[in-house]
Order: sequence, then structure tokens, then C-alpha cells
Amino acid sequence: MKAVEIKQGVFWVGAVDWAVRDFHGYETPRGTTYNNFLIMDEEITLIDTVKYDFADLTIKNIAGIVDPARIKNIIINHIENDHASSLDRIMALAPQATIYISDKGRKGIERFFDLSNWNVKSVKTGDTLCIGARTLEFLETPMLHWPDSMVTYSRHDRILFTQDAFGQHVASASRFDDEFEKSDSAAELEDAVVDYYANILMPFGQMIKTKIAEIQAKGFDIDIIAPDHGLIWRANPGKVLSMYMDMANGKANESVAIIYDTMWQSTEKMAVPIAEGIRAEGLDCRVVKLRATPMSVAIKEFWKSRGALIGSPTLNNILYPSVAEFLTHLRGLRPKNRIVGAFGSYGWGGGAVRDAYEEFKKMGLQAVEPGFQIPYRPSRADEEGAFEFGRNFARQVIEYHKGF
Ligand SMILES: Cc1cc2nc3c(=O)[nH]c(=O)nc-3n(C[C@H](O)[C@H](O)[C@H](O)COP(=O)(O)O)c2cc1C
Ligand SMILES: [Fe+2]
Ligand SMILES: [Fe+2]
Repeated sequence: MKAVEIKQGVFWVGAVDWAVRDFHGYETPRGTTYNNFLIMDEEITLIDTVKYDFADLTIKNIAGIVDPARIKNIIINHIENDHASSLDRIMALAPQATIYISDKGRKGIERFFDLSNWNVKSVKTGDTLCIGARTLEFLETPMLHWPDSMVTYSRHDRILFTQDAFGQHVASASRFDDEFEKSDSAAELEDAVVDYYANILMPFGQMIKTKIAEIQAKGFDIDIIAPDHGLIWRANPGKVLSMYMDMANGKANESVAIIYDTMWQSTEKMAVPIAEGIRAEGLDCRVVKLRATPMSVAIKEFWKSRGALIGSPTLNNILYPSVAEFLTHLRGLRPKNRIVGAFGSYGWGGGAVRDAYEEFKKMGLQAVEPGFQIPYRPSRADEEGAFEFGRNFARQVIEYHKGF
């Protein structure tokens, strides 16, 4: 897609990746974009680059506006490969440019590029760069989501360039939130924000609150939030800010996700009356079979609901591998403010449900005990037991949810 002027003199010059369906292991059914921005001021300034395979596209977009050799400053807000890996291509065209990057960013990109012939300046929170009519200000956001991460603010344009934060994996001909809400829908955009947050930012809620407070304390007026993925927030930047604050503060739906796997459908047969029991208490319920669902979608569904029930058969004394994988994945994301329980079918000694509770303990999640397990296939009486188990769990979710 061609360059787009997002505000007078500030251009999106990024690339749309329509085809990517697996973004470092995360399902991206809508593809994604790598956004970077060119500011046409006395000193021409590029903010971020794009994934290496898309270098030609951003160079073409830049060249449609100005000779890339005239780029004076390159700001690298985040060194991850999807944003910094075509830096060498840009530097080949603009060898005199100076790179502005956080100290940790500088140490990181040394592992990717030979910096000896490049001008590189480390910047920290509060440092500014005057590029003509504009003065850009940097704010480090370490661990949002890498140690090097920072954001750049242009007061002149009232734009906050936020790298991955506030981004979404959405490939679209639309560049802006309002355009996408028209071409697609507000619900799809919100879903993409939640998906991104759940899979990338879930561990960093506390830091998100601190950094949003810092942005507010600095008095950054914001007309536009320009992330490095997906739609640019120009119609309603406040919406994504409040979504982030809500999620960081533990907001979730008063509902339950049943996340399970099964070999011979016994655990699955338990999931149905459990779901009915949850519904009987008036809660919504999502049922997710792990081998039929991409991991990142299962994580998103977990994150959306206040409660989750994890179902697993026992295989060789322990959790079924896809369930173990899910729980390992989840543990790395350090979930908070969720209530959980486990169920499953076994043949003889069991072990899966016990292991699930061990995992819950490691995560420090509130767990409803005991779990519900039955040998082999559920009988009619077991189905009633499963219904009651679901019902009781739903009641506990309702109680727990009152705390938010
Ligand atoms: C390869 C294999 C290994 C198993 N290992 C165990 C085990 O170590 N302990 C146990 O209690 N049951 C074990 N089982 C029995 C299953 O847990 C039992 O068949 C259960 O009902 C399967 O639930 P599902 O229909 O939801 O897959 C094993 C089953 C298979 C196929
Ligand atoms: Fe990243
Ligand atoms: Fe990224």
C-alpha cells in the first residue's frame, strides 16, 4: 500500500503483510502490518523500519515522498526483528543518518548489525530531539514488551508513536481505526486489541498502568496513537488507552471458558453438562478444544473470561500434552485476576487433574477445589455430577467477580 499522510508532514510508510498466518507462533488470521513513519521536517526523520522481507516496500514508500538519502534521523523505538531488521537497508541508502535508540536497544542491535560505521545515539526518558518545527520527546517503556522498548512523542503533531503497544495484528487497506470500523467493524478491532494484549502484554499490566500514568503526568496531548502494527488510532485514541487500563486493572467478562482436550471424547462428554451447569447459573460459556484451536486463540479466550475450567484426560500418568502446553504457555503470561478449576477422564491412576492444580498453584491463581474426575466414560450420574460441578464453579465465579 502507498504512503499515507497521517497528519500534515507525517507519513505512514510501512508495509501490509496480507499473508502471514503464523507470527512467531501466534495465529494471525487477518495478517498484520509493519508500520513505520516518516516525518518531513527540516531534518527528515524516520521512526522504525519494517520486517526484513518488506524492506523494499518501505523504501519504495519513502522514495515516493523524498530521496531516502536525505533521511537525517532514524528513531528505533523497538529492536524486535519485525521492526528493526531492515535497518541495514535504510542505512545503506542514508549512511549519514543518526540512529536514536534506548541504551538497551543499542546493546541489543549490536547483536544484529555492525554499528562501527553508523552514528548511534542512546536516548533516555525525557531526552528530546529538535528536527525543525518539531521537537520529539522520548519515553522509555522497558518490558513493554522488550527491555529496549520506548515511545516517541511529537507535541507539534500530538502524535504518540508507540511501537507494539496499542497495536493489533490486522492487515487491511484501511490505515485508521475509523476506516476499519466502517469497512469491518468496531467489534473486530476490539477483538484484535484484546488478542494482542492477551498474547503479548498480559504479563505487564502493572507496567502498563505506570506508563500510562507517566504519559498523563507529562501532559502529552494525544490526537493520534500510531502503533507499529495494524490500525492507527486517530478517531478514538482514548478508546484503546481505556481498553488497556481496563485490562491492566483486571477487567474480564463475567463468563467461563472451558478449555480442554480429549483422546476418546470422554473429557469432551464431561464438558457439555459442565457448560450446561454454567449456563444454568446465567453465565456465558465458551468451549475451546485445544487441538482444534490455535494456541493464541485459546489464550485470548482464557483472558476474556473471569473463570476458566481446564479439561484433560490422563496420558501416561500426567496431563495430556496439548493441555500441558497450554498451561505452560499461560504460566509464562503470568495471568492474574482469574479463577480456575480442572476436570477430566482417566483410566486407572489418573494424574491430569492433579497436575492441572499444581500448575494453577505455580501461577498463583485462585483455584476451586476439588476438581472433577471420572474413570473412562461418564455415566448418566457422572453427567449430573458434571452439571453440578459447572454450576458450583459458576457460583464461585460470580462471587469472585464481585471483587472487580
Ligand atoms: C496411550 C494412553 C495412555 C494412558 N495413560 C494413562 C495413565 O497413565 N493413567 C490413567 O489413569 N489413564 C491413562 N490412560 C487412560 C485414559 O486416561 C482414559 O482412556 C480416559 O478415559 C481418556 O479420556 P478421553 O476420552 O477424554 O481421552 C491412557 C490412555 C492412553 C490411550
Ligand atoms: Fe515486539
Ligand atoms: Fe511487533
